[in-house]
Amino acid sequence: MKIMVIQGPNLNMLGVREQQIYGPMKLEQIHKQMKDVAEQNGVDIEFFQSNLEGEIVDKIQECYGEVQGIIINPAAYTHTSIAIRDAISAVSIPTIEVHISNIHRREEFRKQNMIAPVCASSIVGFGPFGYHLAMVGMLQIMSEIQAAQQASQQA
Ligand code: DQA
Repeated sequence: MKIMVIQGPNLNMLGVREQQIYGPMKLEQIHKQMKDVAEQNGVDIEFFQSNLEGEIVDKIQECYGEVQGIIINPAAYTHTSIAIRDAISAVSIPTIEVHISNIHRREEFRKQNMIAPVCASSIVGFGPFGYHLAMVGMLQIMSEIQAAQQASQQA
């Protein structure tokens, strides 16, 4: 089983950018914590960050047939990207969307969300801890899928 973690534009600047909103934690520290959880649960995990919409679309397409769960923070593309939404829809892989800040409490333009309707779940406003919640949620989704597959094989 493998989880792909995809981080959108400017998330490579975590720890530097708007600390009053996103906090002091760096992306590498967040990923280290996620890797530890994956290892404890015997699951493979890969991390990808890009500032480019097309590269994110390519990465989602590469997940097809290779990855059983996607955790994505599309960052600013959340509010604009039909291409990323269509890619998630196309691969049909359970996807959890994470936002560090509570996008519903911020500027009006952040209330538009192209991505949420094609995701299994959205986690917003928990700070970097949201990525840990997404890991726990994804492990649960994956174990439910595995159990359903085993049950249908036995039937
Ligand atoms: C974000 C929220 C987006 O509106 C913003 O453009 C980001 C980060 C978050 O994690 O809170 O870059 O996705």
